[in-house]
Amino acid sequence: MRRITIAAMGAVVALGLAACSGSGAGSTDDSTGAAADPADLTVGVAMPTQTSERWIADGDAVEKGLKDAGYKVDLQFAGDDIPTQQQQIDQMITKGADLLIIASIDGTALATQLQAAADANIPVIAYDRLIRDSENVDFYVTFDNYKVGVQQATSLLVGLGVLNADGSKGDAAGPFNVELFAGSLDDNNAHFFYQGAMDTLQEYIDAGTLVVKSGQTDIEQVATLRWLQETAQKRMEDLLTSTYSDGSKVQGVLSPYDGLSRGIITALQNAGYGPTLAQGLPVVTGQDAEIASVKLINDDVQFSTIFKDTRKLAEQAVVSAQSFLAGEEPEANDTETYDNGVKVVPSFLLKSDIVYKDNIQSLLIDSGYWTEDQVASGQA
Ligand code: BGC
Repeated sequence: MRRITIAAMGAVVALGLAACSGSGAGSTDDSTGAAADPADLTVGVAMPTQTSERWIADGDAVEKGLKDAGYKVDLQFAGDDIPTQQQQIDQMITKGADLLIIASIDGTALATQLQAAADANIPVIAYDRLIRDSENVDFYVTFDNYKVGVQQATSLLVGLGVLNADGSKGDAAGPFNVELFAGSLDDNNAHFFYQGAMDTLQEYIDAGTLVVKSGQTDIEQVATLRWLQETAQKRMEDLLTSTYSDGSKVQGVLSPYDGLSRGIITALQNAGYGPTLAQGLPVVTGQDAEIASVKLINDDVQFSTIFKDTRKLAEQAVVSAQSFLAGEEPEANDTETYDNGVKVVPSFLLKSDIVYKDNIQSLLIDSGYWTEDQVASGQA
């Protein structure tokens, strides 16, 4: 509403209420009320980290899309450090950003920055991860995160043979020993992924087809702070010692992100499992179609991942930014799901796909996301 009012108030803008560059004047030319030249507008893009290749790809794609549309871009990565990200956003605001696109590290830690943005009439788009506890989140572009969790759990069931890839009932009845992992509790997505996964797995746990032998099923018990690979590896090592030193074997692991999956696989291989699925490595799931994991899938080591086309997400962020900067509201396709604790944030959700070895070609290579050589080498 704030933005609509501003867009409709050309006269007030002309009086100079939003006259200084970078204070929401983005939507209109200061003197005429006409749409501003993109070349006069700067978009601040705050990404969490460069340790995972998806965020580098996201940052690059958003920057390119905005530049192609004529805007100036201030792209920053925060090394997964919350104060650094806060500082970067503060600086974007001080330097006169006209719009912010933010993939948060801790979704609850940016309320002060968002208030400053709102005070300067700067629209904020939450990117991939919802920013919580603030009314100053204007839009959210993401994937259907609950569905991602359903897909992760589905691929685990397919890997165990409980389901077939087409969703029909498979031959295997279990019982199968499985362990569960979740992402960082301060990332809103982690909760959606885990909820989607558990809603899918629960009936099989109840029926005894799946046995979580450690008994650890609460998200607090299975979470991985900051999505760190080494933390997941350590927890898997601890689980093998605490729960599987009686000669029993773990047969499946729900993992919500490829980095964690690789840590889990390393722990399992170091303990004598595998090294491949055919040689007894458990079914391990993933997310993001990172090249190192796509290679592992191709080599029969990791079982699956979830492909979220970051090119499409970046494109959607750019389209939404253009709407705001033209003084319009972006188009949402979901106005119910993402309550950030203060309000329901209008969202645009994209679809994801399960990657198995046999569709790497059609999903990832044919679409130009990775080349055949990259899949073979595991290097981007
Ligand atoms: C993203 C995932 C990613 C994870 C770790 C989540 O917020 O949605 O794609 O795997 O963060 O970076």
